[in-house]
Amino acid sequence: MNKEIVKSAFVQQYGATDVAVFASPGRINLIGEHTDYNGGFVFPGAIDKGITAAIKLNGSDRVRAYAIDLNERAEFGLREEDAPAQSWARYIFGICRELIKRGLVVGGFDTAFTGDVPLGAGMSSSAALESTYAFALNRLFDGRIDKFELARAGQATEHNYCGVKCGIMDQFASLFGQAGSLILLDCRSLEYRYFPFRPQGYRLVLLDTLVKHELASSAYNRRRQSCEAVVAAIQKRHPEVEFLRDATFEMLAEVSAEVSAEDYHRAEYVIGEVARVMAVCDALERGDYETVGQKMYETHDGMSRLYEVSCEELDFLNAIARESGVTGSRVMGGGFGGCTINLVKDALYEPFVRTAKAKYLARYGKEPKVYDVVISDGARELGITN
Ligand code: GLA
Repeated sequence: MNKEIVKSAFVQQYGATDVAVFASPGRINLIGEHTDYNGGFVFPGAIDKGITAAIKLNGSDRVRAYAIDLNERAEFGLREEDAPAQSWARYIFGICRELIKRGLVVGGFDTAFTGDVPLGAGMSSSAALESTYAFALNRLFDGRIDKFELARAGQATEHNYCGVKCGIMDQFASLFGQAGSLILLDCRSLEYRYFPFRPQGYRLVLLDTLVKHELASSAYNRRRQSCEAVVAAIQKRHPEVEFLRDATFEMLAEVSAEVSAEDYHRAEYVIGEVARVMAVCDALERGDYETVGQKMYETHDGMSRLYEVSCEELDFLNAIARESGVTGSRVMGGGFGGCTINLVKDALYEPFVRTAKAKYLARYGKEPKVYDVVISDGARELGITN
């Protein structure tokens, strides 16, 4: 369906046919939050929602882009000084620039895109946009850039053109996703393993608070700075520690007088979270979903109390999950709003969703949005249409 939407919008905007269509998804993350930029492990999977784009080379050195959902247009060149003003266009421009830096000869193109990943809901709509264009331009300009480097180009786009010092989880999941499998990713080495995830008797469901935190990017960057400050303190005694992933609670305790209480708590959360990912991995191998769920609750507590990236609405939904006997629940993604991810027994699904909707409505005057998780394939070409 999205393929038809982008194709007809493209024809209407640019009057040309024979367009190539590409798509790349958003992601969920079972566990391992704020561990990626700490060199740790994450456990994401691509979802059945993402960005779809129609693209055709135009033989010039300019890009003409149309954001269908916003009904906005942008036109820009490909030199560093040509950065467009609209934030959505900066993602496309950033990808062009990062691919050029990696040796790809990028020329002008026309494009129209649409998306069905909710914006600001913690499902990585921006990574879906970056990965769509990274994957597509590499194909269309006969590039030899591998998917690891395409993911890095997406991450660098966030760093250099969008002001978010993110890790690599989202772009990696969007490019490497595989239907029915989560990805256990080591964010230092980028070694990864597909982990079939078809829990018998359980479902994953997202509840969207509909809260979008305005200061999310600066708050996110400050979390990263806290982690780096603690690593710098630990390195004085333990030079082998490259990331918080390498640190232990004992090492953290040694530097308690040298770092701020806030930074201490941030690092305490991360060190615990790195270990929780491994515990969840082991539990999944045993089919032990109770442990998986318990770790999810522990993550929520840490993100709320120590890392302080939750918000009242997320805590409210998490508490409802606990009261309803849901196996696991936690804030998903960067935080400050967006969704909780819930591991729910089949039999509990209906009553839980009903209760959560009713209580949230009574408290906040609106129902949370509900998304069933369908773990899907990563970036792909949908073919040429005419
Ligand atoms: C955002 C970032 C990711 C990651 C998560 C938190 O989604 O883009 O790199 O840090 O937050 O786990």
